[in-house]
Amino acid sequence: MWKLTQGAAVALGLVAALSASAGEVEVLHYWTSGGEAKSAAELKKIMQGKGHTWRDFAVAGGGGDSAMTVLKSRVISGNPPSAAQVKGPAIQEWAEEGVLSPMDALAKAEKWDDLLPKVVADVMKYKGSYVAVPVNVHRVNWLWASSDALKKAGVAAMPKTWDEFFVAADKLKAAGLVAVAHGGQNWQDFTTFESVVLGVGGPRFYQDALVKLDGKALASDTMKKSLETFRRIKGYTDPGAPGRDWNLATAMLIQGKAGFQLMGDWAKGEFMAAGKAPGKDFLCAAAPGAASAFTFNVDSFILFKLKDAGAQKAQSDLASAIMGPGFQEVFNLNKGSIPVRTGQPMDKFDDCAKLSSKDFAETAKSGGLVPSVAHGMAIAPATEGAIKDAVSQFWNDDKISVADAMKKIATAAKTK
Ligand code: BGC
Repeated sequence: MWKLTQGAAVALGLVAALSASAGEVEVLHYWTSGGEAKSAAELKKIMQGKGHTWRDFAVAGGGGDSAMTVLKSRVISGNPPSAAQVKGPAIQEWAEEGVLSPMDALAKAEKWDDLLPKVVADVMKYKGSYVAVPVNVHRVNWLWASSDALKKAGVAAMPKTWDEFFVAADKLKAAGLVAVAHGGQNWQDFTTFESVVLGVGGPRFYQDALVKLDGKALASDTMKKSLETFRRIKGYTDPGAPGRDWNLATAMLIQGKAGFQLMGDWAKGEFMAAGKAPGKDFLCAAAPGAASAFTFNVDSFILFKLKDAGAQKAQSDLASAIMGPGFQEVFNLNKGSIPVRTGQPMDKFDDCAKLSSKDFAETAKSGGLVPSVAHGMAIAPATEGAIKDAVSQFWNDDKISVADAMKKIATAAKTK
């Protein structure tokens, strides 16, 4: 009897100890497509394994525009989640509001400064303090292809230049296929546009025109050529493109109905979730003209100030889990991206990821590594929004001349 009581007391004590160190973690994210949801589920699993409660705050909408609107209203009403998927210069804007919780003790204990490439660590910090934790490195300047569609159209190899791209696109069209699967949403239009600018003008021009927003670069012949090339691509999309979600565009490749998609490597997560194999069912290559350049897009979570001790512990465990080698591997295998943590073994990754990892390291040295504007890594959110609008207006309205679009983009670039 005594033994039983003692046992029960020990058990009760354990439960109490566990609940003191366990808490709820509410995570706002926009990973809702097949491949994305599989990846997010890995984080949930790890947190639940640590005894925490995962409250999923998923807001659908590729690129995260809807998620950002919802996040603002939650924070304004004084009820922020524990963590939210926010990246690039928007991290600094949130930090300036004084609502983020610095993670320096954890970052120091776990040596984040040593584990992260400097270009990434800098983005995660506000006034020298870590206020965000990085998840991965996505490459944006990719071209994806359906092997079946290419075969049907007699396209023997992935195009390396824009000229080759249009030759292949003509063959796909002639074979009765959609040459380019596109989703007409601002962020997708700009994903295509920035890959064109990079391929036509090279990484230095990309930096000048789209990152520094230099007036001369924006008014240059290279910009003109970029817009002409961009408009030409539209002629290879189908009438269903306006408003289409990116993953539905990827599905057109998965079904063999379309040949190409210009999209970041979250598209690979979609192919994989559908059971397709890289190099066999689908192909990846750097977007035309930009094999020696890399537009990076680092997903990250900002961490909000919380009052509850259990929730604080869960939040810190979340940050630690995200930086951990186990999560970095399993998440990125599903997501299509590569680990952000340096020195992570790549043997379980496929050839697309291996190429990405090699190019990330090489372009960091060569100057070919540039931040993605379409994915919020380069310029202030208000300016980014204005430029995206100008580019999408041009894409959507064939009556807008290239010269007018150049003027509109230059005006938008002055938005503060
Ligand atoms: C994010 C990815 C996401 C994609 C589509 C990008 O901006 O970085 O994680 O999969 O948008 O929603």
